[in-house]
Amino acid sequence: MARKYVIGGNWKMNKTIAESDEFLKEFKKEIGDLSKHVDIIIFPPFTSLSSACKNLKGSSIHVGAQNMYKEKKGPYTGEISPKMILETGATHVILGHSERREYFHESNEMIAAKARLAHDSNLQPVICIGETLEQRNSGQTEEVLKKQLHGSLGGLTPVQMQQTILAYEPVWAIGTGLTASPEQAQEAHQFIRSQLSSMFDKKSAEVTRIQYGGSVKPQNAKELFEQADIDGGLVGGASLDPDAFMKIIQKVPQ
Ligand code: PGA
Repeated sequence: MARKYVIGGNWKMNKTIAESDEFLKEFKKEIGDLSKHVDIIIFPPFTSLSSACKNLKGSSIHVGAQNMYKEKKGPYTGEISPKMILETGATHVILGHSERREYFHESNEMIAAKARLAHDSNLQPVICIGETLEQRNSGQTEEVLKKQLHGSLGGLTPVQMQQTILAYEPVWAIGTGLTASPEQAQEAHQFIRSQLSSMFDKKSAEVTRIQYGGSVKPQNAKELFEQADIDGGLVGGASLDPDAFMKIIQKVPQ
């Protein structure tokens, strides 16, 4: 079954509203009809969500938030709800990025609660998983991925699973310039797909899109995207530059 490629630009804590506007003006001009065969999602900081959606109105580029809270509203100072994200015009949300897991101590259970709420709110989640270097070197990669999948996807129905995007992001490859080799990435993606089959069903394993993330660059994107179980990328650093991000999108096999 053909899965549509999906490329995300995760800007993390970068770009003011003015800088975001400038990027999108240039990016929109260059994108042409590329977005017809690839889903492109820009994840700016919360403060730029509204203006990014206004800038991209009429284009087929999607906008998503980088996080949200697991409750609909209430006394949670500093947090943001799915309804607030939807109101900006955004359609997607990244959940469980390794930086959230590491610096903000987000557990699999917390991520699963957020994922259920995102689906109930009609926001499409991009859920991140991935092992550290220490875990890889001690042969625990599959065990770690299995635990993250079971924990972070807890309570989703097969249909919700199929509408979820997964991002395999080995922690050791994020922002380090080190990339998983296409073979290492494919091996992990294949393992994740086999887990989806046993956790949900065969259809969910076939339909769910799995992005690779971790130092994706114009130079390594082609080989990664050519792997059978890699359906695109979640790009951090290289998505901050419209030219580099465009070059990565152009590497999607047509
Ligand atoms: P990177 O980040 O491309 O800068 O490694 C990827 C990510 O964290 O999503």
